[in-house]
Amino acid sequence: MINISDKQQMAQDKKLIIGNWKMNLDMHEASLYLHKLSKLIKNHRDVEVVLAPTVLSLQSLSLQVNLRQFKLAAQNFYWRDMGAYTGEVSASQLRGIVQYALVGHSERRHVFGETDKDVCNKVAAAVRNGIRPVICIGETAWDRSNNETQDVLHDQLIGGLANITSEELSQVVIAYEPVWAVGTGQNALLGDVRLAIMMIRKQIENLYGATAAASAQVLYGGSVTTDSAADYLALPGVDGLLIGAASLNAYVFSEIIKRAHKGSTLAKKD
Ligand code: 13P
Repeated sequence: MINISDKQQMAQDKKLIIGNWKMNLDMHEASLYLHKLSKLIKNHRDVEVVLAPTVLSLQSLSLQVNLRQFKLAAQNFYWRDMGAYTGEVSASQLRGIVQYALVGHSERRHVFGETDKDVCNKVAAAVRNGIRPVICIGETAWDRSNNETQDVLHDQLIGGLANITSEELSQVVIAYEPVWAVGTGQNALLGDVRLAIMMIRKQIENLYGATAAASAQVLYGGSVTTDSAADYLALPGVDGLLIGAASLNAYVFSEIIKRAHKGSTLAKKD
């Protein structure tokens, strides 16, 4: 039975909204975006907003950003701290620049062949360097039509968390992103997302116990828009959103952030 203490409940009450810009926006556009967003979003104590620009913009944004307002995330990094790895950036080099890092995004897994072993090494590297990894997991359309969703989530979760102790688990964020819903405009049904999130929490409970499962931060991502954000956020067990296309425009993204505010009239009421 999952028990949520008051303290854990308070931590979960803070929604996490991450904008993954992927390979979009140059340094100038990124800076302008941040300027605009900081004007649009004034007070969001109950929402943690994280921006994941391309690696090129990270350093300049880290100098521009007010960390009480927004945090930064890397979209990718290599798991070794240093060495002869041409073209790579390490978590130790990102330390102090980002607070979060995406790990195992479906585009990394399916376009660049990233394996659960890579994910596991990256998760450990992020935690070792004081960066919160956001482990992305999710089934493909093929997995889904072959009733493999549960197995895929199980394997990706076990693989990604293999090096993480129960003490370190609070540093980790899990993002459920069904691959077929990423960048396609296809909306996952609320009931299916709810089920998948329950499976993820059950798996965490099996690995780390009920308290850890209750306090784990689990996000949803995949074609989320201003229209669908509040519905996904209102699902039990969903602690936030990982947004791609809809985060590319500061105004649209700010509207999604507003839907995560508890007091907002745009938020879904219980
Ligand atoms: P879209 O919101 O564009 O589907 O992308 C989701 C995603 O991949 C976020 O990481």
